[in-house]
Amino acid sequence: MDFEFTEEQKMIQELAREFAEREIAPIAAKLDETGEFPHETVKKMGELGLMGLQVAPEYGGAGADPISYVLAVKEISKVDASHGVIMSVNNSLVCYGIETFGTEEQKKKFLTPLASGQALGAYALTEPQAGSDASNLRCSAKREGDVYIINGTKAWVTSGPVADYIILFAVTDPSKGHKGITAFIIDTHQPGFKVGKIEPKLGIRASHTSEIHFENYRVPVENRLGEEGQGFKIAMTILDMGRIGIAAQAWGIAEAAYEASVRYATQREAFGQPIFYHEAIMFMIADMATRIEATKLLTLQAAYKKMKGERVTKYSSMAKVFAAETAMWVTTKAIQVHGGMGYSKELPIERYFRDAKITEIYEGTSEIQRLVIGRQILKELEAGLI
Ligand code: CAA
Repeated sequence: MDFEFTEEQKMIQELAREFAEREIAPIAAKLDETGEFPHETVKKMGELGLMGLQVAPEYGGAGADPISYVLAVKEISKVDASHGVIMSVNNSLVCYGIETFGTEEQKKKFLTPLASGQALGAYALTEPQAGSDASNLRCSAKREGDVYIINGTKAWVTSGPVADYIILFAVTDPSKGHKGITAFIIDTHQPGFKVGKIEPKLGIRASHTSEIHFENYRVPVENRLGEEGQGFKIAMTILDMGRIGIAAQAWGIAEAAYEASVRYATQREAFGQPIFYHEAIMFMIADMATRIEATKLLTLQAAYKKMKGERVTKYSSMAKVFAAETAMWVTTKAIQVHGGMGYSKELPIERYFRDAKITEIYEGTSEIQRLVIGRQILKELEAGLI
């Protein structure tokens, strides 16, 4: 792996960092408090190309590579993880899915507004009874001539209440298990679509998450993504990319907590010297830095492999589980370094801690990531690679 970033990668990282510091930092605490969705800043991110970073310019995107994408998600998440997940879901669960599996017409019709920030996307796989066991779906799609009739409920949909287009996974043939699942692009402005319960959440409070309901929703056949029965593999392939985005989000949260801890520990004095020089604190900070460095390398490696066109299932799960657990660990220690101030809402440390937790849960829990990694190891053994 080449550790030098290209000029373009550095420029995109700088663009995201500068935007986050100028536009998001002043409102992040308030958004966390009110739980208001940041329509304006998300729209501006779209205008800057941050909502469709990897999408080809002919479909309204920035045409950037996965490394630039990871660096940009990290910078945005470092300032506010809510913006980070809105961006990550739109980029890697929605735009990537449509660009990879969509027809030319679908790309023209849906990608262009999604990538340029005129529309917002969501990804609806999970159902109340199907979280980790993602193929156990009930939401149904029955074909009637040129349309499919959709009925059912999806749960925990990031941007569900505000999305214009949603990639939906529904059962077209219940007798075929995961091979009976099909993907569709849903226009939420059509009849039969309803936003359900909005989740009151511990963290990433400015990102809105909800149930969504379909009641005899009619989706034209031309909005089917891929072939009938391909839906589960499409869902998993998209998540391989999505998990790299969440790893970058977790990296950003961890970096924010770490840098705040270094600053605080070198200023705050106890027993006659800055607390940084007490081994108990210095070692915590050394461990934070080391884990973040490993997170960075795993996340960039997954992005690099994606850029080279390799299958990244194992590497994106490794990056995601390690980054998520690092974010949780670092933010926990960051509160400890800050003492009472870390527990207070006067500083963003407790927000980083609350925001970090979700990275161990969504787009596959840490347990699911280990399952995915374990299964890939068994495949390598079967293939004689171990
Ligand atoms: N790429 C391509 N194909 C894949 C794949 C991948 N990464 N993973 C599995 N497949 C294929 C398999 O090869 C298999 O194909 P064949 O039938 O042809 O052999 C098929 O899919 C079924 O695979 P499994 O037998 O491994 O399926 P499983 O039922 O055991 O499930 C799982 C595997 C890894 C547990 C999967 O269900 C999973 O990832 N669960 C977690 C789901 C998840 O991450 N949900 C989060 C949703 S998004 C979200 O969080 C909300 C949000 O808005 C951010």
